[in-house]
Amino acid sequence: MRTTESAPSPQAPRAVVNLDVPGPTISRHIYGHFAEHLGRCIYDGFFVGKDSQIPNVDGLRTDVIDALKAIDIPNLRWPGGCFADEYHWRDGIGPVDQRPTMVNTNWGDVVEDNSFGTHEFMHLCELLETEPYITGNVGSGTVQEMSEWVDYLTRDGDSPMARLRRANGREEPWKVPFFGIGNESWGCGGNMTPQTYAAEARRYATYVRNHGGNKITRVACGPNTDDYQWTDVLMRDLVDCATCPKAEPGPYQAISLHHYTFTHSFQDKGQATRFSTAEWYNTFTHAWWMDELLTHHSTIMDRYDPYRKVGLVVDEWGAWWDVEPGTNPAFLYQQNTLRDALIASLTFDIFHRHSERVIMANLAQTVNVLQSPVLTDPETGQMILTPTYYVLLMNKGHHDARRLDLHWVDELPTLDTGATTPLQLVSASASGKDGAVLTSLSNLDARDSHTLRLDLRGQEVTGSSAQILTAPELNSHNTAQAPDVVVPAAFTDYQLADSVLTVTLPRASFVTLSLTLG
Ligand code: AHR
Repeated sequence: MRTTESAPSPQAPRAVVNLDVPGPTISRHIYGHFAEHLGRCIYDGFFVGKDSQIPNVDGLRTDVIDALKAIDIPNLRWPGGCFADEYHWRDGIGPVDQRPTMVNTNWGDVVEDNSFGTHEFMHLCELLETEPYITGNVGSGTVQEMSEWVDYLTRDGDSPMARLRRANGREEPWKVPFFGIGNESWGCGGNMTPQTYAAEARRYATYVRNHGGNKITRVACGPNTDDYQWTDVLMRDLVDCATCPKAEPGPYQAISLHHYTFTHSFQDKGQATRFSTAEWYNTFTHAWWMDELLTHHSTIMDRYDPYRKVGLVVDEWGAWWDVEPGTNPAFLYQQNTLRDALIASLTFDIFHRHSERVIMANLAQTVNVLQSPVLTDPETGQMILTPTYYVLLMNKGHHDARRLDLHWVDELPTLDTGATTPLQLVSASASGKDGAVLTSLSNLDARDSHTLRLDLRGQEVTGSSAQILTAPELNSHNTAQAPDVVVPAAFTDYQLADSVLTVTLPRASFVTLSLTLG
């Protein structure tokens, strides 16, 4: 902490934070991840095979597992994405050399040999100490196929599927707390209308049964970005009795939302490492959109489900850029810069603010695809931790903590970018758990630092420490040759006087402040 006695700048925006008024719990599951059979995510990223030179446990990379364990990943979504609606789970069980192959038509027509299937995924989750979130096939599968997969995974006692699982070497059932009823059923998952999907989802979800002690949160396919009609139809259909809002919702417990951030648009995504300052700002305007989307979808959900029994699961989010030059366009491999880190930190603040409705989220995707916390070098096999990884590390204290609202007394700095609304340049959130408070602060301003004041009330602060993630250039990133360009460092440019914490955020930076309460 800086020791100067100088009075805080009166111009610095001030927020009141009542440390003794905890809000809702920020579910650790909003820090979830996503691994699809796409490009080098599963094969190369997680799974290199037992004979690889890369250290592994049963073919699963030890370094990647250790890195993900260090950020406490709470859940992992698999096998897709679009892949899920062409995946037939029985192809991925039994002796590996007898498994049939298929063509991964969504992602480059590569041959999928099914060597990574149900048992390998569940083993990975056990090694990661994370909870599986499996997405079933609605688009090209059957109700019976989905029902039998759940039976195979989770049924104790005697059944044809439990017997088959045992014959394949797994005696005990697994626990599967989350199950998706198809993926993007409005697009790659079947091109359905919301009315058609709503009827299908009820039918499929009915047969995704709770066996023994396994209790499943069934996640129906929700809208893409701002398709509010999809949410409306799904919710209207789900909640059986509009006039008795306390009624239990129908056969699923959550709906999903997918929203990606681009520099301009899906058609004009922009490059990961080459962008102008104007494009930097444009990207953050797009990233802030998540806040509006969650507000509008939640408002629709509130109309049908005022007691918030149905969760919103943002099971695909993140930055989507053009692929790295020279890589397969269908593999969605992209670099990850300081800009990606700030997209992540901003988005987590937004999720924290919506934690009454948002029960889970999955960053797309875990390794080597889209906004990955982990990359692996195709030549050397070396693992690289990206700037996004460090945001997940620095934000770990928010997992299952109680939100502390920041009540802004003054206007936060904005920039007129020519968009409909000015871009808010600073974002912040805080939470408390076990006598400690974690505050996350992002400065999206590419040029200037900003000072903020937090008026901490209700409890005494007895200790503090802080970290910063920033870099010399806006597009700084980590590579196999230079893996530590963007890494967290100790931060001291803050002071606490008379319970007011004053902090100056350098341009383009993410700061976390950890406070100990007396
Ligand atoms: O994450 C990549 C793809 O994006 C997923 O497969 C699909 O669900 C989405 O369109």
